[in-house]
Order: sequence, then structure tokens, then C-alpha cells
Amino acid sequence: FPAENIRNFSIIAHIDHGKSTLADRLLELTNTISASGSNKQVLDKLKVERERGITVKAQTVSMFYNHKGKDYLLNLIDTPGHVDFSYEVSRSLAACQGTLLLVDAAQGIQAQTVANFYLAFGQGLEIIPVLNKIDLPGAEPERVLRQIESAFELDTASILKISAKASINIDQVLPSVIEKIPPPVGSRDKPFRGLLFDSWYDKYVGVVCMLGIKDGMLRKGDKVVSAYSDTKYDITEVGIMHPEQLPTGYLHAGQVGYIVCGMKSASEAHIGDTFHHLGQTVEVLPGFQPAQSMVFAGIFPVDTNDFRKLDDNIKKLTLNDASVSVHKETSHALGQGWRLGFLGTLHMDVFRQRLENEYDANIIVTQPTVPYKITYKDDSFKLVRNPADFPDLEERSFKVAKLQEPMVIATLIFPDEYMGKLIELCGTRRGEQLEYVYVDETRVMMKYRMPLAEVVTDFYDELKSRSSGYASFDYEDGGYEDSDLVKMNVLLNSKPVDALSVILHRTQVDLVGRDWVKRLKGVIQRQLFDISIQTALGSKIIARETISALRKNVTAKCYGGDASRKMKLLQKQKEGKKRMKMIGNVELPQKAFYDFMDKS
Ligand code: GTP
Repeated sequence: FPAENIRNFSIIAHIDHGKSTLADRLLELTNTISASGSNKQVLDKLKVERERGITVKAQTVSMFYNHKGKDYLLNLIDTPGHVDFSYEVSRSLAACQGTLLLVDAAQGIQAQTVANFYLAFGQGLEIIPVLNKIDLPGAEPERVLRQIESAFELDTASILKISAKASINIDQVLPSVIEKIPPPVGSRDKPFRGLLFDSWYDKYVGVVCMLGIKDGMLRKGDKVVSAYSDTKYDITEVGIMHPEQLPTGYLHAGQVGYIVCGMKSASEAHIGDTFHHLGQTVEVLPGFQPAQSMVFAGIFPVDTNDFRKLDDNIKKLTLNDASVSVHKETSHALGQGWRLGFLGTLHMDVFRQRLENEYDANIIVTQPTVPYKITYKDDSFKLVRNPADFPDLEERSFKVAKLQEPMVIATLIFPDEYMGKLIELCGTRRGEQLEYVYVDETRVMMKYRMPLAEVVTDFYDELKSRSSGYASFDYEDGGYEDSDLVKMNVLLNSKPVDALSVILHRTQVDLVGRDWVKRLKGVIQRQLFDISIQTALGSKIIARETISALRKNVTAKCYGGDASRKMKLLQKQKEGKKRMKMIGNVELPQKAFYDFMDKS
């Protein structure tokens, strides 16, 4: 295929606006998959993705299409839709020349539509707006057109209006891609350069990498080098995804395809890396930055005998997801475990769910923390990812010169009737308003600068509940900022539980301290002795609750009568214990560590 007959494009959209459904329709239209009319969602490979209906791992598919008598090779590069993966989104976009900006005609533009638009716009891509779901009775295409014009200044005169589900106007999509998106540039005669923009672990062939070929040719048998790690690899297979791996023997400038090169783990595949031939020097492709974990949590086996098994399973899962960072950790309260770093909270939840689904793991996850920067008076520097490592009050006042926390720029879009409630929410989360504008007569877009720590816990749930589900939200990196941070400890029967410590802004300690003892009281069951729950800042107690002793005898209610009922109750009690962890002589459920945060 000459470059002018190739198009590399992606679909960007807010979650649920129909990206996967449209991709399915395009694959059917080009006979890349057989048409059945059902929602197969070939692009969403993982079970969790199907369950949650979100795209986590990008998948790319090559299609063949005849337009006005010419054959075209169209590469649809899938991008993850969620904010946690914005670095991966920008890398996938770097492999395209254009993108379809898909907007739900009933919902209108949402926070991720805006965030994705700016990522694509910043990369200089041709952006084709498309209205989807025009079959819905609630669709308001004219209104959404005005939003697109006012927010993005895009020309909507000949905008595509489609329904991916009801297959309306799907045949107009690819002609528009071919006519509006420019073909890839790059020369086949130059030395080979490839951009690595995705990778995954395949149980038969090992690590598979997706490359966008910027210049030159890559053939099976070639020797290549990673510009990032300087590691050498032998290319054992090259090909295109159609929709599964289809070996082609070579790839040339302008194409997008996969390579297999004997990598042992996905951690060797750095998204954004440049590959070149051994012995050649080339200019490295721009924009590479290693994925940064921004949310950290401790993971511990409920039963210490499961440690090895869990260790194996975490290794297997991280083989497929190089963006999870893993370090062993020991907690006084929970024993041996790991501190895992994730790109964001959704990423963390998906990982935990996969661990539980695919490996049947019984685990305790601690409250997520963000990385804090500490500069000491002797100029040394530390990044703290675990509250247990955060200096206590005394060390803080003697040794610490500066404490900093990561910030984000948050975008919220919602109907204006929720304005009061959302301004209040952002205010209590230490947010500072940067901007607010109307995107149409009744929809508002607000921008806030706020601490990442405030958005990683239950912000999203609160946002949804205060806006009856109508507010959408996204954020981008906002750098680090000085902050008056302290560590709050939790004491059970006067003993601190390290796994429950949390880093807070000083102004929040009283409120959170009082709240936590109440919530903990709500999730810890009464036992045969009194349990005192305290929160403390250094030696100063902030709040205290007591759970009074109870003589626990669940079978007493049965009046000795029905034996099978008694067995059932005992069984139920046993199951209830599965997720309990003994801290000293107090039993703590998983909810005490993390889940209770979102049960407000
Ligand atoms: P993520 O993978 O989470 O980013 O979502 P997505 O954008 O890929 O959305 P998906 O294709 O999974 O569609 C979300 C929901 O909208 C599904 O229930 C689809 O069946 C439905 N849907 C998609 N397109 C249309 C459409 O044109 N009309 C109607 N009525 N529903 C649609």
C-alpha cells in the first residue's frame, strides 16, 4: 500500500458515547469481522472491561476498504477513554493523523469529550466531529451541534449524524475518514523508526508490541534497539491486527502493526519508546515519558498462607500491565504485602477486580494515597507513597523544610441547576475555581485547581450523587504545590494501626478524625470485650468512640430447635469472617480499610 492509500485514525469519546459499538460496525462493514448485528465489542478484550463496559487496554485493528475504485488500508487505533490513561491516549493519538470525535446526541459534550478533544487538538490531528445515538428519542442534535461549535470551534455544517447501534449512516463514516484525514507522512527510504504505543502479554508468543512505523521498513529477522533502554531485540514476527494477529513479514512507513521480539515481560515495553535498527542512529520520536503512578495502595492477603500464591498472581497480572508499579511492603498490622502504584483510582479498581476475578484472591486493600514530596532541612528529598513513611509531628517540625502534594486541573460539565451543590463540593475538597463558562443555554463547564488526594477517594461518587448522575468530570496534571500536611493515626484499644494512617491537610484533621471513628464504629462488629477507637495527631487525641462488649451467641435465637437452620447460621457467620483480619485481638473487615470511605 502506498502511503496515500493509508489512513491512521482513532475514535475519541466520553465513556458510553458508543466508541466500541461504532468500531464494531466499521469492522463489520469492512468484513473484518462477520456481521451479526449483535454487540460483540471486539475491541474490549478483557472480562473486566466487558463487565464494566469501559475500555482499559487499547486495541488496534487494520481494515481494507474500497473507496471510489481505490483500495485503502485503514488502521483504527483504539484509545482508552478514561482520564487515568491519558498518557496512553496521547501515545495512541501520536500514531494517528486524525480522529473521530464521537458525541452522544442525547447527552451532549461531557468532560472527557473536552479532555480528549484537547489532547487530539494539541497533537495537530484532523478532528471529525460525529453525532452518535441519533435514534434515541431524547436526542437533540441541533443543541449538541451548538455545543460543539461553541466549545471546539469546529465546523459542523456537514457533520455526520449516525446511530452506531441502529446502523444509521454508518456507510458515511469511512469515506469521511479517507477524504478529511491526511495520509501518514514519512519515507520508506529513510532508516527505520517506530513508535511503540501499546503492548500486551500473549500466552503463546509472549509480549506483543504495537508500533507505528514512522520511517523506513521493518522485516521479520531484523535486529532492533529500544532508544529508551538500549536493549537489543530480534524481530521474530511482524504483522497487522486483522482483527487477530496476521503475519505479513514486513511493515513499512505509514503502517501500524505488531511485532514479537522476545521480550520477557510487558515492563520492557515502554509506551512512547522509539525503536530503530541495530547500528543506526536516528532522532528519537518526541514526547516519551515513563508512565507515572499517581495512586498507591497497600495490598495484603487476608490469610498469610496465601502470600506466595498472591505474589505469583500479582506478577502474572503486571506482566500484562507495565503501568502498575510493585514494591514489597511490611505492615505491623497486616503483615507482608505489597505497595502497588497505579495511574489512577479506576486503574486500581480494575486491577483489584482482575486479581479477585481471575485469581480468586482474598485481599485487603488500604486507603489510596498520592505521592507526597518532602524536602528536608539538609536539602535531602523523599517521595512518600505510604503514610507509614510520612514524618510524625516531631520529626516534621525539626527536620522538614517543605511538604508538597500533587495537584490537578479538573474539568466539570453539568446542567446549571447543580451549580451550587458542585461549587460547595469542590470547595470542601480544597478546590480553587479557575474558570466557569456556559457551553450552551443551560450547561456549565467549570475548571478547578485541586489536590489530587481529594479526587482519588470518593470525589467521583459524591459528584455523581450531588448531580443526580448528570455531572461529568475529568482532570489533568497540575504539578506540585506546597501544603501543610500532617499524618493522622488510628488507634484500636490504644494501639496505632499503621495500615489505617492517612495523610491530611491540617485543616481537615478535626472533621475527618471525628468522621473516621464513627465510620469505623459502624463497620467493626461488637466483640466479647470493649473496643476503643481513636484518631490522633501525634499524641493529641482528636476523637474517640467505644464499641461496648457483647456476649455473642448467634445460635441462641434458634431455641435449640432446627439443627439445619443452626448450621446455616454458623456457616453464614464463617463466611462473614472470610474478609476479616485480626489486628491484635480486634477483627477488622476489609471495609475498615478502604471501602468505608465511599459509604458516606
Ligand atoms: P467505553 O468503552 O466505556 O468508552 O464506552 P464506549 O464509548 O465504547 O460505548 P459503547 O460502544 O460500549 O456503548 C455504550 C452504550 O451505548 C451501549 O449500551 C451501546 O449499546 C449504546 N449505544 C452505542 N451506540 C448507540 C446508538 O447509536 N444508539 C443507541 N440508542 N445506543 C447506542
